[in-house]
Order: sequence, then C-alpha cells, then structure tokens
Amino acid sequence: MARPSVGELQFAKAKAYFKEFLEKRRERLEPLLYTVETPALLIDLKGAVDKYEQVRKAFEGFKVFYAVKANDDERLLRALARVGAGFEVASCEELARVLAAGGRPELIISSNPVKRPEFIDYASSVGVEAFAVDSFAEVDKIRAVAPRAKVYVRLAVPNEGSEWPLSRKFGLSVEKALEVLEYAGQKGLIPYGLTFHVGSQCNNLQNWFNAVKLSARLWEEARRKGIKLYMLNAGGGLPVRYYNEALRPEDVAYYLKGLLRKYFPVTPSELQIEPGRGIVGDQGVMVLSVIGKAEREGERWLYLDAGVFNGLAEALGGIRYPAYLDKEGPLKEWVLGGVSCDSMDLIAKGVYLPEPEVGDRLFLLSTGAYTTVYASRFNGFPPPKVVTF
Ligand SMILES: Cc1ncc(COP(=O)(O)O)c(C=O)c1O
Repeated sequence: MARPSVGELQFAKAKAYFKEFLEKRRERLEPLLYTVETPALLIDLKGAVDKYEQVRKAFEGFKVFYAVKANDDERLLRALARVGAGFEVASCEELARVLAAGGRPELIISSNPVKRPEFIDYASSVGVEAFAVDSFAEVDKIRAVAPRAKVYVRLAVPNEGSEWPLSRKFGLSVEKALEVLEYAGQKGLIPYGLTFHVGSQCNNLQNWFNAVKLSARLWEEARRKGIKLYMLNAGGGLPVRYYNEALRPEDVAYYLKGLLRKYFPVTPSELQIEPGRGIVGDQGVMVLSVIGKAEREGERWLYLDAGVFNGLAEALGGIRYPAYLDKEGPLKEWVLGGVSCDSMDLIAKGVYLPEPEVGDRLFLLSTGAYTTVYASRFNGFPPPKVVTF
C-alpha cells in the first residue's frame, strides 16, 4: 500500500480532530455548524468548565487562575466563576468583566509586570491584593497606590520551543529579581513570591525544569537575605492540540510536582498556575465561509470571511489551526487568505483540502484562545461573533 502523502496525513489529522470534537458534543454543536452566521467562534462552555476541572484536579495543591486575556467572553467568565475559578487579569476592563461575572476579588491576581496606575488603584480598591513586578519603577508605582500590597517578582526563564514565546518583554535574572524583592520590602510592600512563564503553547518539559531550577535558586538566595517567600506561581503555557497532540495537563502537573519536590527543600506555602490557552484553546471552533478562490503564480488561494486582523492574529506568529472542510475528493494545496485588503492577511500556506467552492464552510479547530480578544475592525470587518453552546 502506498504511503499517505503529507497532504493526506495533514487532512486526516484535521478530519479526525473535527469528528472527535463533534462526537463529544454532537447534540449541542451539530445544529450550529451550518446555521450560524459566519464568521463565528463557537465556544463550548461545558467543555471549558470540564477542562478547568481537569486542570484543577491534575494540579491538586495549586490554585488555578484562568488568564482572562485568552478569551474574555462574559458567558465563559460566568461559567468559570460559578465553579469557583480564580482569574488572572491585566486591565480595568478585564477586572470589571470578571467582577460582573461573579469572580471573587480574593481569587483574582494580576501577573502583568507593567500595569497602568489606574488599574492598580481599581484592583486594590476592590480587594485584589497581589501584583507581579519586574522593575523598581513598578514597585514605586504600586507603593504609591497600594502601599500594603503583596508583590511577586517575574523571573526570566527559557521559552525554548514554545510556540508563542513570552520571554523577551518581561522577566529578570535571579540577581535582579532579588534586588527588586529587597527594594519592595524596603518600601513597605510585602515580597511574597515569584512567577515565571515558560511560553505559551509549551510542549517542551525542559522549560519547566529550567524555570523551577531558577526559581529554587531565587527562593534560597532570598531566604539567605532574610526575605521569606511564600508563593510560587508557575504561570501558563499548558498546550492544546492543534494538528498534533499536546502534552496533557496531567503530564505537566506530574512533572512539575516532581521538580518542586526535588528542588525545593520545603514546598512553597502557596502554589499557583494561571493557564489561558490550556483552559479554552481547544474548546472553540471558528466557522468561516469561503468568499473567494483564485490561482496566482502557481498557487491556489482561498479567501475566507475572517483573517489575521479579526481573530486569527496568532497565525502571524506561526500557530497553525487545523482546517477542515466536510467534503470528499482529491486533496489540493491551498493558501488561506483573510478577508481584508492587506497582503499581510495570510492565515496559512500549505493547507490541504478537497476542492472548496465559494459559499462552503471551513472549520478552524482550537480557536478558543487568543482569537476574538485580538480582533480589530480593520477594513470594516467585525470580529467573529462568539456563540456559546
Ligand atoms: C502573565 C501571563 N500569565 C498567564 C498567561 C497565559 O498563558 P497561556 O495562555 O499560555 O496559558 C499569559 C499569556 O500571555 C501571561 O502573559
């Protein structure tokens, strides 16, 4: 038997994922797939809550704060708040949404190391107690508005192989982190712990290994300087399935717990994680319509009714959403273009699909996180409508 081609394998993966996704929620999802107005992002609320519970169970002993930046849909926030989830927020708007959804202030943290002063003010006025820092300037800013706040320092850790690295903009070396914690203590704030982020969509366990080793060093050096830390926040990074399977939350939790046992003589009193993609990324499917087809310079183009400016921005950074079209027939290679006039608006190259026609529906899987939250109204095209089910 002939070996399947790259295109056949790719389409088979998308098809298997689609069928599996549909099978698990057929009664609720099937009626929407061909009736919802496109572009739309269908979010499975029950699926997201189940995923949260799965993560919570796997990470027993950790507090789990959902990173709202991944998807701030109010129905999603309400569903998570109802089961007692914590939330990680970065802005006044995110905080207001979480509070409106029933999130409890004592279960809200802010791990964005550089915050607007209005946000610190608002957050501390409603009872948010803990904020991340990674500079002296941030300590000064927090002190001016919330003089008794708890602060936790963001450590720079390798993001090797994570599909969406987050290491360049934030984070300090162990030495600098120590200085910032010391400074915070001198200024009357409570140096309370540390945080790191291994990079989003992290399938590389080595990143957690390096992060825990650096954390343990900081913990010990702080202790030697008389700074007693209480809390370790292991950030986000839990990956989800795209074309390929991802590490499961249980795999990461098992490994991380082992590392903590090995490198921390005494387990930190408080352990936290703040996953975003890992809760909602694989609970969304984007439903798009084919609005055009063309062949240029030997490439076949398909134009869809959303693009990188209104929901698919992560495609620019290399995220490849499994694309599925429910048709039979020989596979052809396509370039997927977005709806706008901009030539940057390119969703993916090298996508194998049976021949689509204008008006057909295309499904992009694992579009639950970092999609509609990124969307602009560029060229007058609105973000995909979020439909929960
Ligand atoms: C501070 C912080 N925490 C948590 C997250 C969530 O990360 P992920 O979606 O990879 O779980 C992010 C993502 O940007 C972040 O910046």
